[in-house]
Amino acid sequence: ATLSAQAPNHIVVLNATAGSPIITASQELQKAFQGVFNKTIDILYAADNCSSVIGSVKVLIVGTATSFNRLCGNNSSSSLVSSSDLVPDGYLWQLPSHDSSLPTLLLGQNERGTLYGTFSYLLELAQGNDPAKTASNATTTNGHTTHISNPAAPVRWVNQWDNLDGSIERGYGGKSLFFSGGKVVTDLRRAAAYARILASVGINAVVVNNVNADAALVHTPANIEGLGRIADAFRPYGVRVGVSLNFASPQSVGGLSTYDPLDKSVVSFWDGVTLQLYERIPDLAGFLVKGDSEGQPGPKKYGRTLAEGANLFARALRKHSPADSPGILMYRAFVYDQLQESNWRADRANAAVTYFSPLDGQFDDNVVVQVKYGPIDFQVREPASPLFGHLQKTNAAIELQVTQEYLGQQCHLVYLPPLWRTVLDFDMGKVDGEPSVVRDIITGERFNRLLGGSAGVVNAGTSDTWLGSHLAQANLYAYGRMAWDPTAGHDDGNDNSSTLSTPRHIIESWTKLTFGRDPTLVNTVADMALASWPAYENYTGNLGTQTLTDILYTHFGPNPASQDGNGWGQWTRADKNGVGMDRTVRNGTGFAGQYVGKEVAAQFESVETTPRDLLLWFHHVPYTQRLPGPGENTTVIQHIYDAHYAGAETAALFVTRWAALNASGLIDPERYASIARQLAFQAGHAIVWRDAICGFFAGLSGIADRHDRVRHH
Ligand code: GCU
Repeated sequence: ATLSAQAPNHIVVLNATAGSPIITASQELQKAFQGVFNKTIDILYAADNCSSVIGSVKVLIVGTATSFNRLCGNNSSSSLVSSSDLVPDGYLWQLPSHDSSLPTLLLGQNERGTLYGTFSYLLELAQGNDPAKTASNATTTNGHTTHISNPAAPVRWVNQWDNLDGSIERGYGGKSLFFSGGKVVTDLRRAAAYARILASVGINAVVVNNVNADAALVHTPANIEGLGRIADAFRPYGVRVGVSLNFASPQSVGGLSTYDPLDKSVVSFWDGVTLQLYERIPDLAGFLVKGDSEGQPGPKKYGRTLAEGANLFARALRKHSPADSPGILMYRAFVYDQLQESNWRADRANAAVTYFSPLDGQFDDNVVVQVKYGPIDFQVREPASPLFGHLQKTNAAIELQVTQEYLGQQCHLVYLPPLWRTVLDFDMGKVDGEPSVVRDIITGERFNRLLGGSAGVVNAGTSDTWLGSHLAQANLYAYGRMAWDPTAGHDDGNDNSSTLSTPRHIIESWTKLTFGRDPTLVNTVADMALASWPAYENYTGNLGTQTLTDILYTHFGPNPASQDGNGWGQWTRADKNGVGMDRTVRNGTGFAGQYVGKEVAAQFESVETTPRDLLLWFHHVPYTQRLPGPGENTTVIQHIYDAHYAGAETAALFVTRWAALNASGLIDPERYASIARQLAFQAGHAIVWRDAICGFFAGLSGIADRHDRVRHH
């Protein structure tokens, strides 16, 4: 009841043109007040001053801070707001105390910021919170509370791996929202709705096509027009379009004899493409390039460095984009050769640092090197990529995967923020005497970079649930939150600063927004979500062994044997005596030595000081190896058995916990049933995983389970 007092009498829009995110913000407010408080509120437009509207009681004003100061700043019932604390995309709320007649202000540093401020305000109301009380860094003076929120980094992008034929690589939520039959689809309403979802959590760009890019996309005028239509559909939400490019296009579609990045005709080919794109899409976000990896063409063919390759595109962008917001070239660090299995020391994990470290300082200012969170490939447990510590004169972004490729493919509940936190909070070690934590590197703070941020591979599709599972949406919501502020929510022991975006807080707020506020419901979903990643790790690959997914045939389900003797450079080196990759400098592949901090590298050199959950990542040990660290003094093989049984047991508990919600009628039947089906599948599939892996290792090692559960093969 008190909260409904937040509903204004009028919404006032400051100085906005049709299609602006500010107009969108006002419409979202109108819709929300109708939906949440059942109040119909009109929208007034103030183009040159707001004296006619601001005098009346209880107005809510949306616009940029600059417009506000210009149009309303001299009015007797308001004073100037200070916008100097805002960065692009940031926003402020100024909320009157209940007895005050001051207006409510939702003001952005720019138009996008206005929409972000509006959405975050509405998300609080929709959770039943009083925004003035939940604001984390609010100041209260003269009858109002001011809250400021700035994104920690400018790059908050989503990557879609959509192919022009409408399929989505590693997509588990239906067909592409953008492409079909080689063209951009005609009806882009779902694409616009997707932009709305993304804007609600602060995402500002989408690379719409697969990193394994089809050269045809930017080659035909019809496709460029199609990309333009996608950009038009996104624009009201402040979401910009980015495009993946194929390095070989000058040759494969451009009729040139080369794609050498230093060749003049190649430079002008890309100039031409970039110019055409900017003519149709003046706010194009930029490009994404995967080169020299997994069969993709790249600069190496011509003996050029990856930096020379990246700068080719960065310069074309620089030339044709607005000087005050140059297009960004995201260059992927996921570069490796598919190696021969004969030499385990040719460790794929070493590739990124080997390629990129010598190039630090050679990338143009509008290049951002996009680094997968771990050195291999979106595994359930990886140490953070050591490359982050080497990019000291290069902009860096972290690449996270919302689409659950090795993490349950959307048919297992695996809530990812706890995994992401382990990477964001990973300290690369001392550089010039200072710690170098990943979250501070990607925001640009640690090494004083202007650009940086996050790229999330999402792969939403035409499924009613967008991702193929209701619960998987929580990961997308969390991704946006964490991209906005990767520093919030880390556990620094300081309750004041860290509670707002902890993984628990994020899942609780998502649950309230998605299903309702009942405490039992919220606790059940949060408990399940927080137990899910550890459980999945337990039943699919504990102790830091990499994924044991079948990487050869189905890319789904367990196949521990597929992890060795393959050409993909992902090995566990399991044989009859032991298991694990020796990545020490002393005796192994040398990977441990890639951490810039000597103390970090040294920690991984011995079994005793390596964290238990990374044991097999860094060491090749006999099955009878006792586990390091405090607690149970068990062997590696027994831990493999125990962890897999424990993980499958937790998955079984999800089924009963969920069923209890139905018994109390806390969830609508359709979503209840869909999630119940998924959890039942997960519980069964966890047993399949458990038995496949335990059976595999029992057969290989010939060592029996102490508790006699595992059948020998
Ligand atoms: C993984 C994934 C591929 C993808 C690649 C990439 O290997 O299986 O489908 O193309 O990552 O990120 O480029």
